[in-house]
Amino acid sequence: MNTIICEEGLRPEQAEFLGSKLLMGNGYVGCRGTLEEYRAEQLTALTMAGLFDQKDGGWREPVNAPNPFWVQARFNGTPLSVLDTQPVSHRQWVETDCACQGRESDFSAARVTARRFAHREQRHILALRYTVQAAVAGTCEMKIAPDLCVWDINGPHLEQTSFRPEGGALRVTAVTSELGTAVDLAQLVSCSCGRTELRGDGFYITAELAAGQTLTADIYAALYKSTDPDAADPVRAVQSAARQGFDALLASHRRSWEQLWRQVQVKIEGDEQADLALRYSMYLLLVSTPFHTDRVAIPARGLSGQVYKGAMFWDTELYMLPMFLASLPQVARNLVRYRVNTLDGARAKAREYGYRGAFYQWESQEDGRDGCTEYNINDIFTGRPLRTYFRDKQIHISADVAFGLWEYFRWTGDESLLLEGGAEVLFECARFLYSWSYYKPEKKRYEMLDVTGADEYHERVNNDFYTNVMTKKALEAFRGAADYLQTHAPDRLEELLDRLNFREDLPAILEFERELYVPSPDPKTGLIEQYDGHFRMEDLTPDELRARILRPNEYLGSPVGLAVQTQVIKQADVCLVTALFPQEYPPEVRRANFRYYEPRTEHGSSLSGCIYALAAVKCGLAEYAYPYFLQAATLDLAGAYKRYVGDLYIGGTHPAANGGSWMVAVRGFGGLSLQQDGLHLDPALPQGWSGLSFPLCWQGLRCRVHITQDTVRVEADRENPGPLRLQVCALACQAAPGETVELPCPKEAKP
Ligand code: BGC
Repeated sequence: MNTIICEEGLRPEQAEFLGSKLLMGNGYVGCRGTLEEYRAEQLTALTMAGLFDQKDGGWREPVNAPNPFWVQARFNGTPLSVLDTQPVSHRQWVETDCACQGRESDFSAARVTARRFAHREQRHILALRYTVQAAVAGTCEMKIAPDLCVWDINGPHLEQTSFRPEGGALRVTAVTSELGTAVDLAQLVSCSCGRTELRGDGFYITAELAAGQTLTADIYAALYKSTDPDAADPVRAVQSAARQGFDALLASHRRSWEQLWRQVQVKIEGDEQADLALRYSMYLLLVSTPFHTDRVAIPARGLSGQVYKGAMFWDTELYMLPMFLASLPQVARNLVRYRVNTLDGARAKAREYGYRGAFYQWESQEDGRDGCTEYNINDIFTGRPLRTYFRDKQIHISADVAFGLWEYFRWTGDESLLLEGGAEVLFECARFLYSWSYYKPEKKRYEMLDVTGADEYHERVNNDFYTNVMTKKALEAFRGAADYLQTHAPDRLEELLDRLNFREDLPAILEFERELYVPSPDPKTGLIEQYDGHFRMEDLTPDELRARILRPNEYLGSPVGLAVQTQVIKQADVCLVTALFPQEYPPEVRRANFRYYEPRTEHGSSLSGCIYALAAVKCGLAEYAYPYFLQAATLDLAGAYKRYVGDLYIGGTHPAANGGSWMVAVRGFGGLSLQQDGLHLDPALPQGWSGLSFPLCWQGLRCRVHITQDTVRVEADRENPGPLRLQVCALACQAAPGETVELPCPKEAKP
């Protein structure tokens, strides 16, 4: 099924939004949904994954490549550009089945169409077919050349740029200003008619067109950076692409996407809007996914530009990893391997702050470099930079990394990751969290002080619930890995204990796990205090808080924001825990905390809505679950997100909300969970849904699950090495390879 997200009509003021909404990419490069005539002003960008640069003391951010899709065309002297000529009609779209962008603009005398993509498998190859169809006889002139005038927040990042014709292509080389990494691009153009001349700065095309005649320009580009393990000569690569031709390239690209969709597709029946929104959310996540490498994960704004420094946050482990674990474990492996590969950066950060072990970066870039600065936001009133403590105090990132890694092991049973550095990460994260903790002898417990939890509006608090719970999870993971190695690879355990000088830490960390303080629900109310003293803060609603705002985009968090001294929170913290681990809290506790925290949440983060949806499903609060789900799943479609905090632009795509939407659909409504005794399916479909189906992969066993309002069908893959066992609505179920099992799922069995 081809889902096309199409924008009819030209609204120049929407260029920023459409750039993100119509994003395409292949995990190596992300191409904003801009038009061929667009340049930096319209935020044109081809954001390269894993290539970062710092210029003149500005923030480190990803590098945007020279834009090979830049076309300047004229027909009978009139620019075929929406920047200069008002089109009679105009449409722009992205196709989610094959990650292709398209446009069609009718300029009366001539009609322009374009279709372009970044090849999913030949990931260095980009292709654009640009056509001009003449309505009247006339002369078409075009200049096609890679454009250096692309969107840069803290750039320009490319220096020593040179253009030169080579082997019929135009080669552009440049180096990044900080590390001198080379960016190497070659472009080749092939036209259906007219005369094409390659000069030093571009391809010049002139064609005399009869009325009704079409000029087709196929534009190919090959893009590399010198740090690519498969870096090659871009001229040869682009020549080979041109030999394959646009149609063949598109066909193989499309086949590859079709194959990918077969492995991940979730289908909602009876609710087209939700089905489309979820498919689009998953699409956005997939275009920014590093299928090919474990040297990067998925940045907080995907590959939609340089916002949030192109950095990888805890968003990856908590919001995106679940989808990959259940459907594309090989990609999940890349994502967690990224943390193994960046362990040294995390160790260096722990040392920098006077701790031991691994303190993962809040905003992690290539090689585990820290993108996060101490002053992240400017005070909107004074213009002065505000000292924020995201970098220093969000220690839960190390716990999240450990949790993600252990989740990977639980879902896949792949011990190779543990043996190839994963266990070391778990040991070092545990050591870091231990070195951060304080033992309170009078209370006989360890506490986590001076931290920032999931809710960023309350910085530097003590015993943040989410942080303490996740610390406990990280310690369980550490113990689990140590036990596993003890049984299955005792030599490796010994080697690790010696190499990390861990023998003394081992008993101390086990004691830390036993005696770590984790706030428990109040026995009378069931409420869990988000951090020490939270309930003493001023109690008001987000609307009452908003009424105090003096300037648009005022930052509500630390140090002096309006929310700081109040109970208004930015995003789920306690409810994040009850949503993720519902089995660990009785239903009345889950419900009490939902009812308390939800009306006090400002949803200042795109990480919030999906979690309240999930929490609501787990509380049986259908009236909240579906609206929050829809809000999260349509976030990037509707563009209903914050664009500025103070004077800081934070727009782009929202992979955490995209992955979070999958979590609500599959883990929430589909009721999928991995518990101590294995996989469970306890669905609770929204009333209007007649069906939900999704692929599932667990410990090398695959199946497709079909859920209706009262049945669950499991179709086990023919290739499975053994039977798949799971609990469906509390009934044990087993499906042999190739077998389909259907079970009733009575309403009473639902959570
Ligand atoms: C959220 C963080 C999140 C970051 C990147 C912030 O607004 O509060 O939890 O990690 O955005 O998505």
